[in-house]
Amino acid sequence: MFKCFQEAVALLALKSNGIATMCPPSCEPVSWGESMTPDVEYRRFLLRALLFGTLFSTVATAQLPPNHPSRQLAQTPPMGWNSWNKFACKVNEQLIRETADAMVSSGMKAAGYQYVNVDDCWQVSRDSQGNIVVDSRNFPSGIKALADYVHSKGLKLGVYTDAGRLTCQKRPGSYNHELQDAKTYAAWGVDYVKVDWCASKGLDPKVQYAKFRDALAQAGRPIVFSICNWGVDAPWTWGRTTGNLWRTTGDIEDKYDRMSVIGFSQNGLEKYAGPGHWNDPDMLEVGNGGMSHDEYQTHMTLWALLAAPLLAGNDLRSMTPETKEMLTNPEVIAVDQDGKGVQGHRVWDEGPLEIWVKPLGDGSQAVGLFNRGASAIKITLDFKMLGISSPIRVRDLWRHVDLGEARDSYTASVATHGVVLVKLSK
Ligand code: GAL
Repeated sequence: MFKCFQEAVALLALKSNGIATMCPPSCEPVSWGESMTPDVEYRRFLLRALLFGTLFSTVATAQLPPNHPSRQLAQTPPMGWNSWNKFACKVNEQLIRETADAMVSSGMKAAGYQYVNVDDCWQVSRDSQGNIVVDSRNFPSGIKALADYVHSKGLKLGVYTDAGRLTCQKRPGSYNHELQDAKTYAAWGVDYVKVDWCASKGLDPKVQYAKFRDALAQAGRPIVFSICNWGVDAPWTWGRTTGNLWRTTGDIEDKYDRMSVIGFSQNGLEKYAGPGHWNDPDMLEVGNGGMSHDEYQTHMTLWALLAAPLLAGNDLRSMTPETKEMLTNPEVIAVDQDGKGVQGHRVWDEGPLEIWVKPLGDGSQAVGLFNRGASAIKITLDFKMLGISSPIRVRDLWRHVDLGEARDSYTASVATHGVVLVKLSK
């Protein structure tokens, strides 16, 4: 409930920034300002949220301190895999090793996926010196050996902790152990750390995550720093001076409704993202079975247009060819990983139809025509929306097909919950 309430605050902050709202995962759906009873607590939090909106609507210009070891990392959105969406607490070293093997053999590594990230539940306690103790039943060889194995495959290892007192699965958090944990991770050869926000009552995320940032600096190893506080206190306004990426919402689920409410609500956050510092709308669910082909294609397309981290969340050892193809489509990944590092935004919407655009480094634009409605429909992209007057070449990125030159507009038939992703170039 506490987590839900914190997310509600974050959502109000989004709203006050003019950014669309969504339902927190663990809350009842509410329509802010319409059906919600304005009790005292709500008013207090609304006031706080409005303050965030006003105080932090300007973009911070600084990034991680120049001498911070993580400063040069994540120049494009991180790509990899994370255990949580599919395996939750059922993690062990064999799974992680097999996942690393599968990342190579499936072609995921060749497609750009790099980080193999163990989420919650690898840790059990602290020893008498306060050092974090690894679950020896599930990770008998320890994390250092696991990191060595993952590195031997040309990949990188990530771990998970929490800035509060406990992780969300009630394992020890890093609160008051920031430096000790950062040094431990560095000694193990860890390359990525996701830091959650459970059991953080009374703590200020800006303060706690800055503490972790400074601990990583002292530990000396370049480690991607992933802030996971579900958007609480608008991390996009302070995240770039603190970490490499920050979650903007509560948890994704393997359902079209939840995925789409998160993905389509990111409009307005684009000004906070760029090389080394990314908005994170949560990890991928592609291949987990809860969505149709078109819905997963919407998921992947939207994340690519959003320059979102691409952390697969399925079982890489048993992917269907269809899932593999979707996760590794080189032209779609190129949109996400484009070196210009601009997050896309919405240029048009009407009812359930939306058009999103991401400018690319070569001067072209990736454009997604999305149909959130219940039946197939034709969507027309009027080039005036993009300020284009001359004829333009159109390429379908999912299908790898050149569609020739178009003048004035481009129209596509889009399946229900589906998308057509094109690249427009001179
Ligand atoms: C949540 C987090 C999830 C996952 C989970 C682990 O707070 O958003 O991505 O890490 O905790 O307990």
